[in-house]
Amino acid sequence: MEPMMAAENAGRWNWMRSELDALEAAGRLRKLEPAAWLEHGWIERNGKRLLHLASNHYLGFEPWLDDDGWAGLAAECRRLGEPAVRIGSGASRLITGHDPQHDALERELAAFKDTEAALVFSSGYMTNAGVIPALVGRKDVVFSDRLNHASITDGIVLSRAQHIRYPHRDMDRLEKALKQWRTGEAGVPSRQGRLLIVTDAVFSMDGTVAPLADLVTLKERYGAMLMVDEAHSGGVYGPGGRGLCHALGLHAKVDIIMGTFGKAFGAVGAYIAAEDIVVRYLINRARTLIYNTGLPPLVAAFIRQRLRDVRAADSARAELMRKAALFRARLQAGGLDTGPGDSHIVPVMCGTDQRAVALSAALAEAGVAGVAIRPPTVPEGTARIRFAPTPAHRDADLLQAADAVVRLAAEARP
Ligand SMILES: Cc1ncc(COP(=O)(O)O)c(C=O)c1O
Repeated sequence: MEPMMAAENAGRWNWMRSELDALEAAGRLRKLEPAAWLEHGWIERNGKRLLHLASNHYLGFEPWLDDDGWAGLAAECRRLGEPAVRIGSGASRLITGHDPQHDALERELAAFKDTEAALVFSSGYMTNAGVIPALVGRKDVVFSDRLNHASITDGIVLSRAQHIRYPHRDMDRLEKALKQWRTGEAGVPSRQGRLLIVTDAVFSMDGTVAPLADLVTLKERYGAMLMVDEAHSGGVYGPGGRGLCHALGLHAKVDIIMGTFGKAFGAVGAYIAAEDIVVRYLINRARTLIYNTGLPPLVAAFIRQRLRDVRAADSARAELMRKAALFRARLQAGGLDTGPGDSHIVPVMCGTDQRAVALSAALAEAGVAGVAIRPPTVPEGTARIRFAPTPAHRDADLLQAADAVVRLAAEARP
C-alpha cells in the first residue's frame, strides 16, 4: 500500500477509537476474557482461580461431557436413524435442517410443558427477535416491563409495533396504559390492532419475579396476548423445573411460554411452548426460524438428555434456593443492598459504574468472579454486581466470598 494511503487509512477508525475511549473513561468498556471452568463452581481467568458466581448454569450440572457421555449421545442419534451424531443442521429447519432430534425434542418439550406443541430456536435471542415480530406489527402494540431482557426489546423494535414500557412490575401503570389504548386516550388511531403483554418471569439482573397472576388477569380483561420469558426460571421453578408459570398453576393461561437451554440446562438454544396453531403460525412467520440454520442436532440430542436430568433435579433446585438464601443473608447482614428480589439471582447494588467496576476488579483480586453489570443492561445509576450461586458451590466458599464482597464493597465506597 502507498504510504500516503496507509496514513489516510490509519485514521479510518478514529470514530470507533474515540467512542471506545469514552466508554473506558465512563467505566463502561466491555472486554472478552477467556475463562476455563474448573470443579465445584470455580474458573480460571488470566491465570487466576476464581469462585465463579457469574454463571447462569443454575442447577450446577457438570459443564463437560466425558467419554460415556459422548458414547450415549452417539447411541441416541443412531436410535433415531442417523449413522452418527450430526453437528450441523445443514440448512434452515424449513429446508432440510429439521433433524429427527429436533422433532423428538419438540415432542418431549410439549409434553414437559403440558402444551399442544413446542418449537425450538437456535437461541433465546433468536426466539424473542423472531416471535414478537411474528405476533405483532405496525398496527399493534406491545406492553413490556421496563426491565425486560434486551432480546425482548429488540424483538419489539423489529416488529415496528407501538412500544409501551411500563415501570417494573407496576400493574397499576400497566392497566392504565391498556385502558388508554383500548379507549383511544393514548391518541393512537389504530386501536383495533393486537395487544401483546410480554414479561420476563424472573428478571435476569434483579432476581425479582413478575406478578404473573395479575398479568393473566389484565390480559384477560383487555383481550391481550401474554408472552412469558422463562429464561431464568426454567429448570429452577415449578414441578420438575417446568418454570414459574407451572409453579403458579398459570401455564394454561399464558399464551406463549418461551424458555432457554443456555441457563439451567447448561446447553444452548431456546423454545416456544404454545398451542399447535401458534407453533404452525410461527413456523410460517418467525423469520429467525425461517432464515437461520437450525440448532445443531448434537445439541438437541444433548438437551433431550438434560431434560431428563432437569426433571429429576428436585434436590439441586432445593440446594440452589438454600445456597442463594445463605449467600444473600450474609451480604445483607454485612449491610449491603441486594434489591427486593428473593430468587436465586443475587445483585449487590453499587450505584455508579465506577464503583461496580472497582468492586468487580477487587473481587477478582480476592479470587471471586462477580461481573459488573452497567447501563445499558441496567438503568442509569443502578450498576451492580450480579451473583448467581449454584448447587455446585460449597457453603464455605460462598460464605467466604460473601465476606469478601462485604469487606471490599466498604473499601470501594466513595
Ligand atoms: C430473559 C432472557 N431472555 C432471553 C435471553 C437470550 O437467551 P440466549 O442467551 O439463549 O440467546 C436471555 C439471555 O441472557 C435472557 O436473560
